[in-house]
Order: sequence, then structure tokens, then C-alpha cells
Amino acid sequence: MKKVGIIGVGEYLPEKVLTNADLEKMVDTSDEWITTRTGIKQRRIAAETQAASDLASKAAQKALEDAKLSPAELELIIVATITGDMQFPSVACFIQQALGAKNAVCFDIAAACAGFIYGISVAQQFISTGAYKNALVIGVEVLSRITDWQDRSTCVLFGDGSGAAVLAEVESGGILSTYLGGDGALNELLMLPAGGSRQPATAKTVEGRLHYIKMRGNELFKIAVQAMTKAAQRALDKAGLKFSDVDMVIPHQANMRIIMAVAKKLGLSEDKIYLNIEKYGNMSSASTATALCEAVKAGKIKKGDIVLLDAFGAGLVWGACVIQW
Ligand code: ACO
Repeated sequence: MKKVGIIGVGEYLPEKVLTNADLEKMVDTSDEWITTRTGIKQRRIAAETQAASDLASKAAQKALEDAKLSPAELELIIVATITGDMQFPSVACFIQQALGAKNAVCFDIAAACAGFIYGISVAQQFISTGAYKNALVIGVEVLSRITDWQDRSTCVLFGDGSGAAVLAEVESGGILSTYLGGDGALNELLMLPAGGSRQPATAKTVEGRLHYIKMRGNELFKIAVQAMTKAAQRALDKAGLKFSDVDMVIPHQANMRIIMAVAKKLGLSEDKIYLNIEKYGNMSSASTATALCEAVKAGKIKKGDIVLLDAFGAGLVWGACVIQW
């Protein structure tokens, strides 16, 4: 089996900033509540003209430049998203066209906030077996389109953005392990009830606000801490490493309190955890993708470092990945 690593990263965040002060004017909330309960200060919102593939294409272009790979050389595009441009075609197909990556095989995966790690794991299999030479994995979300701006319990949490990584064979290091898991019995804790084949769009579903995220946040909180702790432990065990070996953790950015609770359980110091939740909120699959890119660009991840990605989301699903940079 070939060793597979990340050879380029890129990110794109829409320009519009929505602050906690802006939200105070929209729903009954306060900067104090949002900050102390979540750690979020602001989030980015896509322009009306921007769909998921528009954000993702910009992140993808940067990742390809970083990897010094031309679009024509790209063999696989995997997009992790729950807010695709349309039910079909896949976002990956729109991106193939936008990039001019006409030789790439394209598909999307739906694993919510853990999607980027699922995408990395899938791409790794294809490259390690020699099926494809390289892959572009993108986490992108336009959650503002499925956020109920009248529901204060959810609308303060989410934002829009995109991050991308190019994977290819590497001589040393690379992805040391991945661990994926899930529990479909807990699907009701977080879902978008209507718009699919179970409840197609009708005037009644629109009136019932069923095309927006429904979340039982308090119940999810405890499960998120347990799942992210377990996923991190399993991935490190598979890699034959200890937490003291980890140089940088890239956690899913759903809630600062979840991240700190996981860090405490694992005995990780705060300076080893990359955070962007304050600036962007929870961007589902785009959170780990953009955080990884930012950490690399900021020089917080250097060659040889051990990096741990760890995420949890709707499904419920979770996953972790250990990479030697
Ligand atoms: N402003 C002010 N008050 C609020 C707000 C708000 N924005 N939202 C809720 N409240 C109130 C509630 O009404 C409640 O009031 P009450 O006590 O009078 O009933 C009180 O605040 C406490 O509400 P809780 O829901 O218990 O608050 P909690 O401390 O659990 O924080 C939060 C809520 C931030 C959602 C937290 O539970 C959380 O982060 N959960 C996990 C979310 C998660 O991980 N999701 C999975 C990933 S997302 C994905 O996959 C797309």
C-alpha cells in the first residue's frame, strides 16, 4: 500500500461578517450568552449569488496551487457537504466544471461535521491502492441557507465557508490512521426534516419551517464530548501513538466548551488546539477543513509534526485522523 499525505491546502470564507451584535437585533439573544455558551463572536455569510460550489471552487483553486497540481492532472474530487447547490447533480461535478478538471471522477459524501475526515479517509483508500494518483477533498457548507433565523437556539451557531486539501502519494509520513464511527439510532437529535423523499417540499412543510436545521443541542453536547474523545483515542491507538506525541489538534468547531471538555479528558494543553470558532462559528464539514488550512498557513503545523483531526456531527457520525505532516 502506498503512503498518502496532504500536499496542498486552501480555504475560502465569504466576505460578509455577521456579528453577535447583529444577531441581538434579529432574535432574543446577547453577545454574552453566545460567547459564554459557545465561544463564537462572529460568522461569515455567503452572498445571495453564492452557492456551495462557488465557495468550494475558490478553496479548491488555492489548494491546487499550493500542491502545484494542474486541474487536468486531478483524478478524483470528493466534496463533503450537507448544503449542496441542488439535490443533484453533486457539488463535485459543479466544481469539476468550474476548475476545468475534466479528467477527475466526482462525487459527494454526506457526513455532516465529520464529512471532511470521511472524505480524507475515502480518498486515502483510492490512492493507497493505486486506483488514483491524487484527490481533492473539500469541506464546504452554506449553512445560512438552512438556518432558521427566527430560532435563537440554532441561528447563533452556524456559518458559511470552505476548505480543501489535495492528497497524493508521499515518500514518508502522511496519513497514519483514520477511525470512523456512527450511531444512526440518534438521528433525531440533529436533522433537516423536509425537502427529501420522506417529506418532499409542500406549502405545509414550508409553513412548518421544516426546511431548517432542527437540533437538540443540550443532548448532543454530552454525546459530542464522548464521541470526539473516543474517536481521538481510537485513531491514535491505530497509529501506535500517545497524546503526548500530538503537536496540533484540529477539532470540529461546534462549541468551545465541547472542545475544551474533550481536551481536558485527553489531557491536551490548549496551545496544541487550533481554534477558529470565534471567527467563523460552526461550519460543519468546512470547520476542520478551514482550520487545517489556517493552521498550516500560520506556520503552526511544520514538516514532521503529528496532527490529529477530530469531528462529530449529524447522523450521528464521528471520525478522527492522524497525519504526520
Ligand atoms: N440566546 C439566549 N438564550 C438562549 C439562546 C440564545 N441564543 N439559545 C437558547 N437559549 C436559552 C434556552 O432557551 C434555555 O433557556 P431556559 O433555561 O429558560 O429554558 C437556556 O438558554 C439554556 O439552553 P440550553 O439549550 O440548555 O443551552 P446549552 O448550554 O446546552 O447551550 C448549545 C446550547 C450551545 C446549542 C449547546 O448545547 C451545544 O453546543 N450543543 C452541541 C451542538 C453540536 O455539537 N452539534 C453537532 C454538530 S452540528 C452539525 O452536525 C451540523
